[in-house]
Amino acid sequence: MTSTTPKKVRVPDLALMKQRGDRIVMLTAYDATMARLLDRAGIDLLLVGDSLGNVIMGLDTTIPVTLDVMIHHTRAVARGANRALVVADMPFLTYQVSPEQAMRNATRLFQEGGAAAVKLEGGRAVADTVRKLTAAGLPVMGHLGLTPQHVHRLGGMRQQARSESAAHELILDALALEDAGAFAIVLEAIPDTVAEAVTSQLKIPTIGIGAGSHCDGQVLVSYDVLGLFDTFAPPFAKQYAQLGQVIVRAAKDYANDVREGLFPKSTLSNQQTSDLAGRRVIPSLNDRAFEELKGARVPVR
Ligand code: KIV
Repeated sequence: MTSTTPKKVRVPDLALMKQRGDRIVMLTAYDATMARLLDRAGIDLLLVGDSLGNVIMGLDTTIPVTLDVMIHHTRAVARGANRALVVADMPFLTYQVSPEQAMRNATRLFQEGGAAAVKLEGGRAVADTVRKLTAAGLPVMGHLGLTPQHVHRLGGMRQQARSESAAHELILDALALEDAGAFAIVLEAIPDTVAEAVTSQLKIPTIGIGAGSHCDGQVLVSYDVLGLFDTFAPPFAKQYAQLGQVIVRAAKDYANDVREGLFPKSTLSNQQTSDLAGRRVIPSLNDRAFEELKGARVPVR
């Protein structure tokens, strides 16, 4: 099924999509070329996730990702996206110190990065910040459940909200984010039943990752979907292509051609070579003419 939102996706469209029962589709993107391709595929939202720490920078966690890095990648994605709404992650400790700090840093993602919305992790603890940003006109997406910036406190990347009390806390967090003005919430790695309960209690859409099929939308890391990231494959991610294998094959073919002298072909076409031969430049090239040829300045006399 294709999207029923053919025009540029805007923040208010997401609530309408929830009302209509249209599933929201989000993927991560980190550069302009990928953004252009995913946009062409009709993906509704492109998330410049701080997962770029893992898949682009080769880090173990998202914690070292800086605001400048996020701005750099957001700017690239914003250039590539035409229809999709571009959401940028606020990196670790760029919004937790105070609402004022969050406001300053979010502003840079909008003004310098070209983001249309920011995402930040946490519930009631960041609700005041969400309220301040949204009141200032900066759309905010929440992120609950497994929040990778909290990996050390959580003791690893594991499923959250497994007990009844933890599920209850998560629902309170979701309600607080909605009340503070968040326009959508990512639910990561929580039981399907909890995601279903949250989704049914909120007016704003939920976007799940490892949270079952009852969310209003789904998000995955594009490098997982495309089979580009083979260091770690989350159990909930589905590979729709094995581009990693395609790249290795293409790079091997290229290496082989270079080593065998099959690439590049002569820069001179057969016609050019015979033209030059007709002018008696080839085969008796003198040194000066040879240097000129190397510099692509073909002698005309
Ligand atoms: O950083 C990211 O890619 C994310 C998604 C996994 C939701 O936050």
